[in-house]
Amino acid sequence: MSMNRFAGRAIQTAVLVAGIWVAASVAIAVNAQSGPSWGPEWTAADELVLPRGYHAWVFLGSPLTPNALNDGEAGFPEYHNVYVQAEPLKIYRETGVWPEGTILLKELQLTLPGENPDGSRVEASGRGFFPGARNGIDISVKDSVRFKDTNGWGFFNFGHHAPPYAKTAAAMPTEACAGCHIDNATEMVFSKFYSHILNAK
Ligand code: HEC
Repeated sequence: MSMNRFAGRAIQTAVLVAGIWVAASVAIAVNAQSGPSWGPEWTAADELVLPRGYHAWVFLGSPLTPNALNDGEAGFPEYHNVYVQAEPLKIYRETGVWPEGTILLKELQLTLPGENPDGSRVEASGRGFFPGARNGIDISVKDSVRFKDTNGWGFFNFGHHAPPYAKTAAAMPTEACAGCHIDNATEMVFSKFYSHILNAK
């Protein structure tokens, strides 16, 4: 009788231990599914959290479409400063493909006020355009599950104005962002503008 009770307790303990082990494995699996440690952070409502520390990321380039060259009304007259983290960039350089979780962050930066009709000014280095105030953030994120309808990339706007920017943002509708990237970019990214940095050894 006492042996039976002992055996029963041993089984209970074994079941409990196995249960804890299964629960722990599931927790690890869920965690692994949520992506790389450097990947995007999502709110419970599935909004993207504005990454921190991006001024220390790798700077890929800075297309510029000033008002002076766009009939005075460029949609984005600022420098388009594009940043990516070192980890996905390393994988891109090895494979030629942006890994899941890649965040491309574009911060808009106004040119300093112009002194000439074309918006240019003169500084010690010459006449031209020079970086001024920060003025907005757009982000694209690679997540082939979340954004399977737009070639695996989601698009987010954190405001087109001076900081502080929005802390989180919902994915933009296809026609607002992804559509133009689908039609005009290579695999959703305008890599051709960053190729000299992307391929720098
Ligand atoms: C009419 C076309 C068009 C639309 C609409 C558009 N983009 Fe882009 N986007 C571009 C082009 C062209 C570039 C690269 C050249 C540049 O920045 O001027 C770019 C660059 C980017 C980049 C830098 C990475 C890359 O792919 O080059 C991000 C991030 C980005 N766009 C996000 C967005 C977001 C977010 C929206 C919507 C709010 C959006 N874009 C709407 C054309 C577009």
